[in-house]
Amino acid sequence: MTNKGFAIAIDGPVGVGKSTTARLVAQKLSFTYIDTGAMYRSVALYQAENGLDMHDSASLEKSLKKINIKICNVEGFQKIFLNERDVTELIRTQEISEGSSVVAHNLAVREKLVAQQREMASAGRVVMDGRDIGSHVLPWAQLKIYLDANLNTRVKRRMSELESKGLPVDFEKIREETIIRDERDKNREHHPLIRTEDAILLDTGSMTPEETADAIIKLVSEVENVL
Ligand code: DC
Repeated sequence: MTNKGFAIAIDGPVGVGKSTTARLVAQKLSFTYIDTGAMYRSVALYQAENGLDMHDSASLEKSLKKINIKICNVEGFQKIFLNERDVTELIRTQEISEGSSVVAHNLAVREKLVAQQREMASAGRVVMDGRDIGSHVLPWAQLKIYLDANLNTRVKRRMSELESKGLPVDFEKIREETIIRDERDKNREHHPLIRTEDAILLDTGSMTPEETADAIIKLVSEVENVL
């Protein structure tokens, strides 16, 4: 194993089950889970709550100076703090999902969050999920996973996730938003969502998060044996 610890990078599009799977892998292996999407969501929440434009680079760059994001594990659950306030639930609305993929276009936003993500990963054994983890944030990760599933499956998953939180759901609307967000994440100029050549593809369409997590854990032991 390298002196950088052990990192599992999990990337993939909207609604593919990245965070549920990553959380399970982290729990089972006693690794630290880092949800990078939550950080982009927190920036979007800051813009929304302060009536600021998600597209405006100057405004985003000004906001970055006032934004402090922390990811903490509280009694086994991950909590996100924006300027010391717990925003774990507030960042999960459709408005913030949409806004997060807009603010993620901004290079200054990305550079600030990526630096923090690398710093967190340097602490040891981590599972990090997002869009650019294997390609840009942790290109040295010992194991890179790319999760994928067809669009309708992913939309249904998003619907149950929102339903379970008591948030309103509309299949067509969520389908449309998923397509737009994926397009934006895949085609942006800086660090778009891509599957790197060394990332192992897992199709989660017919797998439960538990099965996906177990498949990843099996891959971890195979990688550890050759390190
Ligand atoms: O994983 P998520 O749905 O919580 O991510 C929200 C948005 O944040 C996603 O649409 C794009 C952006 N994002 C990113 O650009 N890079 C990451 N590593 C993680 C998320």
